[in-house]
Amino acid sequence: MEVDIQKVDAILERHGTEKRSLIPALLEIQDEYHYLPPEALERVAEHIRVPMIQVYEVASFYKAFSLEPRGKHIVTVCLGTACHVRGSDRLIDQVGRILGIEPGQTTEDYQFTLEGVNCLGTCALGPVMVIDGKYYGNMTATKVERILKKYMAAEEVAENG
Ligand code: FES
Repeated sequence: MEVDIQKVDAILERHGTEKRSLIPALLEIQDEYHYLPPEALERVAEHIRVPMIQVYEVASFYKAFSLEPRGKHIVTVCLGTACHVRGSDRLIDQVGRILGIEPGQTTEDYQFTLEGVNCLGTCALGPVMVIDGKYYGNMTATKVERILKKYMAAEEVAENG
C-alpha cells in the first residue's frame, strides 16, 4: 500500500506538535490507512519530537492501532464454543472462500481482513459474524454470501464512481 506522505503531513499539521497530539494523530492516520505504516510513524516522531521507540510503544499498546496492513472492512467470525457447536468452522471457511483469504489475512486490494475470535458476547445468536462492528447473528451459508456480496458490490460502486 502506498503512503502519501503529504496526507500524513496534513494530518500532523492539524494536530500540532505537542506531545498530547500523539494519540489523536495516530488515530487519524489509522483511519486513513487502516493501519500505521512505518513511514507515517517516522513522520509522527519527527513532527512531535518524540523518540521513535515511544511512538511504537503507544502504537503497539492500544488495540485500536495496527502495525500490520489491514483491510477497510474487518470481518470477524466468532469461534467460541457456543458458535463452534453451531458451525462457525464452516462459516469462517465459507467467508474465507468468498473473500479468497485465510483467517488472519487481508485481501490484496486491502478491502477486507478476516479474523477469528473467541466469543463476541452474543452466544445466543450464534454463529455470529461482525463486519466493522455490525453484528450478524444466526448465520447460514446463504446469509453469509448475501451479506458479503453486498459489501463487495458497494466497494465496486465506490471504485467505479
Ligand atoms: S461463543 Fe460466539 S458469541 Fe459467544
